[in-house]
Amino acid sequence: MNLPRIYIKAEKQKALYNRHLWLFSGAIDRQDPAQNGDIVQIHLANGKLIGYGFFVDGPSIKVKIFEHTQSAIDVLSYDYWRKKIFSAYSLRKNLLEITNGFRLVYAEGDFLPGIIIDVYDKITVIQTYHRGIDRIFDHITKALTELGFEYLYVKKVAQGSQLPLGWVDKEADTQTIIHEYDIKFLIDIEQGQKTGFYLDQRDNRRLIERYSTDKNVLNLFSYTGGFSLYALRGGARLVHSVDQSASALDLAQKNVEINGFDSSQHEIFAQDCFEFMDQSPDNLYDLIVVDPPAFAKSKQSIPNAVRGYKEINKRVMRKIKQGGIIFTFSCSQRIEPQLFRKTIFSSAADVGRNIRIIHQLSQDIDHPVNIFHPETEYLKGLVLFVE
Ligand SMILES: C[S@@+](CC[C@H](N)C(=O)[O-])C[C@H]1O[C@@H](n2cnc3c(N)ncnc32)[C@H](O)[C@@H]1O
Repeated sequence: MNLPRIYIKAEKQKALYNRHLWLFSGAIDRQDPAQNGDIVQIHLANGKLIGYGFFVDGPSIKVKIFEHTQSAIDVLSYDYWRKKIFSAYSLRKNLLEITNGFRLVYAEGDFLPGIIIDVYDKITVIQTYHRGIDRIFDHITKALTELGFEYLYVKKVAQGSQLPLGWVDKEADTQTIIHEYDIKFLIDIEQGQKTGFYLDQRDNRRLIERYSTDKNVLNLFSYTGGFSLYALRGGARLVHSVDQSASALDLAQKNVEINGFDSSQHEIFAQDCFEFMDQSPDNLYDLIVVDPPAFAKSKQSIPNAVRGYKEINKRVMRKIKQGGIIFTFSCSQRIEPQLFRKTIFSSAADVGRNIRIIHQLSQDIDHPVNIFHPETEYLKGLVLFVE
């Protein structure tokens, strides 16, 4: 096995020992010629092997590491990638009792940078983020088939990738139904957002059920009604789902129907959530969910994002009934938990109501946070009790 070699500057070795998964340009001392997507061997300046990665040749990240090791490994073999996929699967196995929709591979969270694989029953939906995945794609699909997934759908590929989009081999309907804690969800893997569903909120959605009995519930940024369905099952008096996407709301309505809930208790509003809150009356809702899209996509957008989170939460805190409960989230990886909490504090201080945190929430277990790679932590949620 003759892989191109990358040598690290002696003073930058610490990051490698700390097992972070990205190698930045400033850490490279010298290297063999390598193409974007090549699998490379990483060595310390003294020549000692320290790991393997994908050469991604970005402006700042040069290598995405998938193995920290001091022993030579055959990283081109099927066995190697099969083990990774099977290990990712074993972490999720106990979820199967709860659902047949889960994230099977969460990129760096599974030491597999550059690929996300979500499962919807017998279908796996694949998204790739660098060209290195092209090299191992056949191994990945073979392992998925070996695990029993019959239908493999490539939804998105990295720039410059040669992988074709769509079904890999066998075709199936692009709409399917999954179950999650005995609630059915219609998933549109082709037209839906992300791979079709926000799997990361599973246990947070379930928590809302406990607080919904006889409540008026508002689900802001509802997408296909995830939180709304749990609220209905929890015995909510009425549930309003608001999203700017009419097609997502259409699925939300269908989800209410296929679960046999009373559709007269559920209403959809295809509208901007900020505007909706401006027009909404005071003291109508007892429970409000705020789950916006990632407002901060880059470092530069953090101040604007903070303003966005602060504004929407202020509106919600002003309008909610006394004794009400707010489930508020941020899925921006750039907004760290402390900053999110500070932002919510600042909304509360401006509104001037007594607010206490009763739950602190995170992403579900199929989105594991890699302790060596803090960038894998992104979803933060606070459940607030408002007086
Ligand atoms: C993170 S997703 C919500 C996921 C949802 N809570 C669930 O559990 O499935 C964010 C949603 O916000 C919607 N959205 C984005 N900006 C919006 C806006 N200004 N007003 C209303 N909806 C918006 C998107 O269409 C998307 O469905």
